[in-house]
Amino acid sequence: MFKSALLSTVFNTLFAVCEIIPLVVQTTPPASASTIVPLDFLSYSIEFSFWGDYAGFNATNEFTNNLIGNLKTETGQDLIIRVGGATQDRTTYIASQKQPIINNWDYTYNLDQPKNSTIGPSFWRSFNRLSSTKYIFGLNFFKNDSTFMQNLYGEVSESRKNIPTEKLYLFELGNENDVGTGNGFRPANWTQKDYVNEWVYRTEHLQSKNNDKLRFYAPSFAGLGNDVFSPITVWNSTYDYDQDGWIAEVSQHGYVTFATRNPTLASDIMNHTTTSRFVAPFVNLNNFHTSHGRIFTIGETNSVAGQGAFNVSDVFGSALWGIDFSLLSAANNITRLHFHQGTAYRYASWQPVTVNGTAPLTKPPYYGNIFVARFIGSSNNTQIMNYPLDGESNVAYAAYDGGKLARMAFLNMDIYNLTASAGAPKPSNTFVFNAPSWATSAEVTKLTAPEATSNTTITFGGYSYDYNLAKGRPVKVSNGTSMIMPNNGVFSVEVAASEAVIVALQ
Ligand SMILES: *[C@@H]1O[C@H](CO)[C@@H](O)[C@H](O)[C@H]1NC(C)=O
Ligand SMILES: *[C@@H]1O[C@H](CO)[C@@H](O)[C@H](O)[C@H]1NC(C)=O
Ligand SMILES: *[C@@H]1O[C@H](CO)[C@@H](O)[C@H](O)[C@H]1NC(C)=O
Ligand SMILES: *[C@@H]1O[C@H](CO)[C@@H](O)[C@H](O)[C@H]1NC(C)=O
Ligand SMILES: *[C@@H]1O[C@H](CO)[C@@H](O)[C@H](O)[C@H]1NC(C)=O
Ligand SMILES: *[C@@H]1O[C@H](CO)[C@@H](O)[C@H](O)[C@H]1NC(C)=O
Ligand SMILES: *[C@@H]1O[C@H](CO)[C@@H](O)[C@H](O)[C@H]1NC(C)=O
Ligand SMILES: *[C@@H]1O[C@H](CO)[C@@H](O)[C@H](O)[C@H]1NC(C)=O
Ligand SMILES: *[C@@H]1O[C@H](CO)[C@@H](O)[C@H](O)[C@H]1NC(C)=O
Ligand SMILES: *[C@@H]1O[C@H](CO)[C@@H](O)[C@H](O)[C@H]1NC(C)=O
Ligand SMILES: *[C@@H]1O[C@H](CO)[C@@H](O)[C@H](O)[C@H]1NC(C)=O
Ligand SMILES: *[C@@H]1O[C@H](CO)[C@@H](O)[C@H](O)[C@H]1NC(C)=O
Repeated sequence: MFKSALLSTVFNTLFAVCEIIPLVVQTTPPASASTIVPLDFLSYSIEFSFWGDYAGFNATNEFTNNLIGNLKTETGQDLIIRVGGATQDRTTYIASQKQPIINNWDYTYNLDQPKNSTIGPSFWRSFNRLSSTKYIFGLNFFKNDSTFMQNLYGEVSESRKNIPTEKLYLFELGNENDVGTGNGFRPANWTQKDYVNEWVYRTEHLQSKNNDKLRFYAPSFAGLGNDVFSPITVWNSTYDYDQDGWIAEVSQHGYVTFATRNPTLASDIMNHTTTSRFVAPFVNLNNFHTSHGRIFTIGETNSVAGQGAFNVSDVFGSALWGIDFSLLSAANNITRLHFHQGTAYRYASWQPVTVNGTAPLTKPPYYGNIFVARFIGSSNNTQIMNYPLDGESNVAYAAYDGGKLARMAFLNMDIYNLTASAGAPKPSNTFVFNAPSWATSAEVTKLTAPEATSNTTITFGGYSYDYNLAKGRPVKVSNGTSMIMPNNGVFSVEVAASEAVIVALQ
């Protein structure tokens, strides 16, 4: 057994300068460790109007294919891409349209998204471009003129015709319809009961028309509150929402904060206290749904609503946030996350095409995604456990593989600022934990960047996934791994400010 007295004697003297974080790590999964983490836990949601930029229509977007392929290389399983978002509810299918998609912009309406879009049959070519994906197809719920059912029939029948059955995971009818009155798509007196009636009417007509078994992803609400619409009461007997039994998985959306609230790295992103508070309501929802036999997922999420905040969502600190948020969700049994993407969104993991002269770009959040995939691994038998620590900066997770401690992830979310530190080296904290008796060494794989606000020169284990090196395929550019040995039965791992590591026991 681990002896903390021994620990303090040995290490307080050795590392007097840094903060020392002693941990007692169970070598087999404690009862409070997670259930087995699904290998598609880390998935994406891609804004409907920009899906073609990501996948390609006539030719595969090789950059996207490489970045998604890298994640599959880590886990061995296809990702689930939800093609949806606000623009799914502003899309009209036109059978005679030759172009795959026409996005109609109105910059007084929104700088990041078209006001509305039309799609033709060639839109669906995009679903046969990427190698390692399954799809949730986002149907238009809001359309309510005389052709709304015709529009839905078109979207569903083209999807069934063009997306291979094994790739067509689910349909989603409507995005964040709980805020439909606020968005001006329904009158102010529109109720949750009206929503459910419309949802059931549409799905029942789709189902009977096609005479088969469509399955749905729902309700994809934005709000967690318990006011007019509620992700809890919508399931009660008053509404009889899933009266047909076609809802295969539950989806809830969530963002840490809003771009209009001037978020900062320190208070909103690189802050484990904030991240824990953010995850808590999802854990409650997960428990609620699990206890009713339903699968709960976070079907659209990212750091800052409103497509992200400059210098917050698009910098390295957000990669660290993505790791903490993902692993805390997994540790609490949440089945899957879909990180939302859009071509020029600040929080995107990558920019898939040239925008206004800026070439395609791997963005910092992707480096958090690949770290999470590496930590989950490919055994299909991984459980994750969060070891709570004091404060907002230091975070520790364990991964148990087949019932045995396999990996630790440590994060140091102190903000390292090159300007403020005037060239002084990054301060480090030292995580110290008991080595299992069988572990003779460990490989430390580092995720690092020059500083918390870096948007370039990021490496994971010495590899860059940048576009300009090999279109997103990993390229070794530095030494990012090292071996450590246990000393007096304990491993000690230094983690510099604004860095994260995976420690793989051997
Ligand atoms: C895509 O391919 C179709 C026919 O396969 C062709 O008509 C169309 O012009 C092509 N579009 C582009 C942008 O190359
Ligand atoms: C992992 O396990 C799940 C559930 O048993 C299964 O559906 C999936 O195919 C497995 N994936 C791999 C890569 O073995
Ligand atoms: C679609 O967007 C265009 C451009 O902003 C606008 O002119 C048009 O009225 C919109 N159509 C609908 C149905 O909202
Ligand atoms: C139909 O949608 C329009 C906006 O697209 C909205 O103003 C109107 O209130 C809706 N009507 C009903 C009956 O939901
Ligand atoms: C809701 O408001 C619309 C006008 O926007 C009105 O026509 C309708 O009767 C109202 N419905 C109820 C139930 O009050
Ligand atoms: C369902 O939720 C509504 C609030 O949206 C509430 O008025 C109603 O009493 C609830 N019904 C049951 C059976 O819990
Ligand atoms: C971290 O977040 C908590 C609340 O979530 C807040 O009290 C604290 O001040 C934040 N820390 C910093 C450095 O902003
Ligand atoms: C996750 O599942 C495990 C195993 O069923 C359970 O012991 C643990 O309490 C669950 N965690 C949460 C946060 O519900
Ligand atoms: C592209 O440039 C135009 C003109 O400068 C600008 O209005 C628009 O917002 C830019 N778009 C993006 C996505 O940056
Ligand atoms: C970094 O330090 C500089 C100089 O002190 C300061 O202006 C800047 O706001 C700091 N950046 C962050 C993200 O804290
Ligand atoms: C990266 O950050 C630098 C410095 O803040 C900025 O000038 C540049 O535009 C950023 N690049 C991108 C792609 O956001
Ligand atoms: C990596 O480490 C090796 C051995 O210490 C050294 O020879 C090599 O130059 C290093 N490479 C880089 C890119 O730092």
